[in-house]
Amino acid sequence: MAKSKNKYRLKMGNKPTKNILITGGAGFIGSHVVRLFVNKYPNYQIFNLDVLTYAGNLENLTDIQEKPNYHFIKADINNAKEINTIFNEHKFDSVIHLAAESHVDRSIYDPLAFVKTNVIGTMNLLNAALEIWKGDLEGKLFYHISTDEVYGTLDETGLFTETTAYAPNSPYSASKASSDHFVRAYGETYDLPYIISNCSNNYGPNQFPEKLIPLFIHNIIEEKPLPVYGDGKYTRDWLYVIDHASAIDLAFHKGKNKETYNIGGFNEWQNIDLIKILCEFMDEKLGREKGSSAKLITYIKDRPGHDKRYAIDATKISKELGWKPSVTFEEGLGKTIDWYLGNEEWLINVTSGKYQKYYDKQYS
Ligand code: NAD
Ligand code: DAU
Repeated sequence: MAKSKNKYRLKMGNKPTKNILITGGAGFIGSHVVRLFVNKYPNYQIFNLDVLTYAGNLENLTDIQEKPNYHFIKADINNAKEINTIFNEHKFDSVIHLAAESHVDRSIYDPLAFVKTNVIGTMNLLNAALEIWKGDLEGKLFYHISTDEVYGTLDETGLFTETTAYAPNSPYSASKASSDHFVRAYGETYDLPYIISNCSNNYGPNQFPEKLIPLFIHNIIEEKPLPVYGDGKYTRDWLYVIDHASAIDLAFHKGKNKETYNIGGFNEWQNIDLIKILCEFMDEKLGREKGSSAKLITYIKDRPGHDKRYAIDATKISKELGWKPSVTFEEGLGKTIDWYLGNEEWLINVTSGKYQKYYDKQYS
């Protein structure tokens, strides 16, 4: 639940110009968005609401936790009553919704958990926002953070645009697609002001090491096998997380009501090529013999329903809002590896306990 009212009142002395709820702010992308908003907009009150699942970690935010415009609320978006109480107490004027179950492999084992958080959790937030905003929608915004996976898969050519038909293939992407539809429907039916953005694969500091890049960095450090699904010839479009956060900042402030923006780096890589570059970087950074990390590459059983290729056309957000990525892939990857090598304790903390059980189940 919300932290002590007295502390909150003390901080309200800052005359906030916006009361923004950011959900999932202790996770990977959310923590970068929270940091950006807290530092860049000291006049905004930023409320980070997160239940702290295995993927949520307040260690991601230690540098800003004492800032006067930052507030943490430990709560579950699946609990409608609690969410309504929090909205009534804080009267948010905007929501940036990132909280989700986010890992495709986990959605294959437990699809219902994804429906609960990604669909019902989103509905609870929509209902709570509508309840306090109805009658005065001026200046209000529900910004829903989504994924390119809702569009399904591409063959060797073509790009996902904002008008590509939805065709999700995994329980994760089906749950995200469903939540996107509900956001849109609340816009049409109740005139709820909203923006949706659909982003490609993110990488960077603080990503939980179940996703390809941090998992492989971690395994290389520990000299463990690098489990490549299928033939490794699946393609993803990679974006540095700080560039996703800057796109969210732009869309939040300058995006048009009821619009969708695709976000991506025009940076496609077949998994195996990316993995080979990562291995080269790691050999160099760890001072290991050239080729030693690549020897860990191990082809394993494919992911069921594995999408062949994702590629985002980010022309709309660049042309209309002037967004562009700030780093090349090589720069971003170098920074990412440096972060993981410099934050060994973070890595040890998040990979102990329950995570070990998941790892054994997924890769045994
Ligand atoms: P993440 O798994 O790292 O973080 C998710 C956060 O949500 C965690 O802090 C977790 O504690 C919190 N959370 C989960 N269930 C919750 C609940 N019931 N109540 C409150 N908080 C809850 O995810 P991420 O990779 O940072 O992704 C964030 C958002 O961006 C998601 O909506 C995801 O679909 C979307 N997205 C991710 C990527 C990517 O490459 N990671 C790309 C495009 C879109
Ligand atoms: O496209 C955006 C999506 O990117 C986000 O919406 C998701 O939240 C995020 O998890 C990510 O989904 P992917 O399934 O593309 O990411 P992941 O890192 O799990 O896998 C990237 C590719 O690497 C994919 O083709 C599967 C492959 N892979 C992954 C793992 C974890 C392997 O070959 N081996 C592995 O062990």
